[in-house]
This record gives sequence, structure tokens and C-alpha cells, in this order.
Amino acid sequence: MDSSSAPTGQPAAPAAEGTHKLWGGRFAAGPHPLLDAVNRSITTDFRLWPHDVRGSRAWALALHQAGVLSADEHRAIHDGLERVGARIAAGAQPIATDEDIHTMIDRLLHEEAGTPASRLHTGRSRNDQVATATRLWTMHAIGQLDAAVRELQEALLTQAETLTDAILPAYTHLQRAQPVSGTHWLLSHFWPLDRDRTRLAAAAKGAATLPLGSGAIAGSAFPVSRELLRETLGFEAISPNSIDATGDRDFVAETLFVCAMTAAHCSRIAEDMIVYGSSEFGFVKFGDRFSTGSSMMPQKRNPDVFELARGSGARVLGDLVSMLATIKGLPSGYSKDLQDDKRALFDAYDTLMLVLPAMAGAVAELRFDRARMRAAVTGAMMATDLADYLVRKGATFREAHGAVGRLVREAEEAGVDLDQLPVSQVRVAHALFGDDVMDALGADASLAARNVDGGTGPEAVARQVEQARARIAAAP
Ligand code: ARG
Repeated sequence: MDSSSAPTGQPAAPAAEGTHKLWGGRFAAGPHPLLDAVNRSITTDFRLWPHDVRGSRAWALALHQAGVLSADEHRAIHDGLERVGARIAAGAQPIATDEDIHTMIDRLLHEEAGTPASRLHTGRSRNDQVATATRLWTMHAIGQLDAAVRELQEALLTQAETLTDAILPAYTHLQRAQPVSGTHWLLSHFWPLDRDRTRLAAAAKGAATLPLGSGAIAGSAFPVSRELLRETLGFEAISPNSIDATGDRDFVAETLFVCAMTAAHCSRIAEDMIVYGSSEFGFVKFGDRFSTGSSMMPQKRNPDVFELARGSGARVLGDLVSMLATIKGLPSGYSKDLQDDKRALFDAYDTLMLVLPAMAGAVAELRFDRARMRAAVTGAMMATDLADYLVRKGATFREAHGAVGRLVREAEEAGVDLDQLPVSQVRVAHALFGDDVMDALGADASLAARNVDGGTGPEAVARQVEQARARIAAAP
């Protein structure tokens, strides 16, 4: 049958019979199962339900204030939504025709509240509805992420505080560079996470703009108070443009960026532990509860948590890239591509909420081998200190660099470490070298010279620990 010959003004199209859909009147034929399959998002967006219920209750109140809902209708919807929330919390599951969480809640509300439920969608679209629920979810999720990041920071800081007496090589290009304190090394992983917390707070602020009231794209035609909605739902601002508000997923991309950055930081912590935990380094030992064995090699102890953290960073990065790629191709307003924002967002969140606590646990169980750390510090690593010695005596740094460089070569040719060269040989390299030159070649002296703020000197590191403690106690 030609659809143009279908009678107009008839109730429910055949396609909608026996189902609960938010659309369908203008279609003569029902959706193909393959459309349903590709269109259905409830397996992903189900978790939005508490936020969607909250958004709907606020919308009902705004409609009541705008004179669209009577007091009775408002009450019926308000109480009905409460029962819907209770039913979902108690385990109510989607049925096959629930396209997304908004459809499911609408269906349950009709069961709970009857006819008034049919008035709730007045002046509202799923476009502003889903943007609102996703923003509310994001604001909540960021609080959870912040707590998880802080837990990992706590584990790092607690371990760092035990390592004030440890000295190990710091590496550049993964080549031994200069000696640093163990505390300083571990805290180098604390501060990136501190920046992530700042970024999380900014992302929460980015999400805190209210889209509800934007309708599908042009704004609601009913005089709802968006200020009331903002206040009721805890948003900071009201979107100034309905076209932008319904198609804007910057807040998702921003949150994903912070997730990707945090995952990258976890990956770098993991990489340090994996490398320093190898037999070749031997600085770090993994605890029993956070390492795994091999099915074949009985001796193995593998740092799987760290490897999984490193690996999952790739997926979170993929989530960010897929969101940015989605956004860049879209015309203004809402397009269905945006439905996948939640797949990326939830995947990144879920991944970090697994990785961060597991990392915190694995870090808390680490044991450090101070003797192995110390043994890896060689005399040549104090070459810079030797040059600094000459500078203090009046040489230019360039000249000092050249003289020490020659000594390093001589030591290498003699097959000894720099601090094994006879003092007489060292003194020949530059007129300003005195009898006390060998003192400059000690690792402790090297650290002690670096009490500049942010340096690895013992006093500077003590100040840094204080600073870290204060940051962790503060709100982001
Ligand atoms: N499930 C949809 C999403 O997540 C809800 C919005 C649907 N809007 C629409 N115009 N079909 O994006």
C-alpha cells in the first residue's frame, strides 16, 4: 500500500500497537528489526535513569508553574516518577521495545500515573532531555573519578613518605642521569594526578550548563522557567542558544580528555613500576595480592595490574578520539551520531574506575629495595656536580663541562667509574680542582646541594611532602 493513501488523523499507527514508543504516528509501516537493532541504545544509556527521573521531575514542576500541568497532574507525575525510580532501583528491566532509557521511563510512568504521563513530554524533546541527563551523570561521575584519583595519590604519597632515605638514579632517555631521593621520584607521579583533579573540576564546571528548555532545537514553546530548572537540578548556568545546547557535546569531549590524560598518567606510573620491577633494575617488588603467576613458569611474578593500566590507557585515548571525530563532522543541532557519546564516556569512566583503585592497591603493596637503588647510582652520575664545583670556584659552566667531559672519557678508557680516578689525575684536568674535589662526587652531597624549591634536596622534598599533603586534603 502506498503510504500517501493512508488515512490521516488516525490514532496509533499499526507499528506502535502493543509497544510503547515516543514516536511513530507519521509512519505507515513499523520499524525494521535491523533499524531497531542499530538504533537501540538502552544497553548503554540505562545508567542515566536516576538523572533522567530527576530531570523529568524538574520538568514536571516547570510545566506546572507554566500552567501546562494542573496541580493534580503534577502530583500524579511527581509521585509516579518516584515509583518509577523505585521500580528501576529494585531491578525493573527494559523490555524489547524500550528504545532508550527515556522511552523506558516514559512507559513505566504511564503504568504508574496513567493519562497525566502523556502530558510530561510537552515542550520537551529527547534532544534536550538526553543532554540534560548526560550532563547530570557527568557531574556526578566526575566526583567519583576525583575520589578515585585521590585514592591513588594517597597511596603514592604514603609510599613516598617512607622513602626519604632512599637514593636512586633518575633517568633521562632511560639513561642514568642524576641521583634523586626515592620520595622525589614517587612524588613525580603525584603532581600529574593533582593537575588531573584540577582538570576534572573544570570539566564538571563545563558540564554544569542547563540544556533543558531547548526543546528539539528551537526552544520550548511553553513559558517554563529555566531559572527554576537550573536551580532545581543544580546547574551553574543556562544555555544561551537552543541549537547549540542540543548539539553540544564539548563537555563530553572535555571529560574524555581528562580521562585520557589521567589514564596516560596511570600508564606512566605503571611503566616506571614495570621497568623498575624487572630483575635488571630490581628497585621495586610487587606484592602478592596484586601480582600474578605464570601457568607454565613456576618462578614468575608478573605486574599485571600495571600492564593492564598501561594497556587500558589506549582504549580511553580511543574514546576521546572517537568523540572528537564524531563532533567534527556534524552540522549544527542534534544528529543521531551523538547517541554514541555515552558509549565513549561510560567506557572511559568504567575503565578508570577499575584501573585507579587497582593501581592504588598495587602501589600500596609495593616494596622498595633501597640497596638495589643505591647500587645503581654510579660516580659518573655526579659529573654535573663536579662541573658545578668548578663553577663555584670561578670557572664558566662551558669550560667546566669540557674539563669534566675529558675526565669522564679518561675514566671510561681506564675502565673505572669517575669517582675511582686518582685525585692527582682529576686535579690535572683543571687548575681550579682542589683537594676537596672528591667530596663533590658523593650522591648525598649531590642531593644536599638541591634544596631549591622543587629540587631533590632533603629540605625541598620535605616541603614538597607538606605541599602534597595539603593538596590531597583540599577540594579540587
Ligand atoms: N537515545 C538518544 C541519544 O542518546 C536520545 C535522543 C534521541 N533524539 C532523537 N532525535 N532521536 O542521543
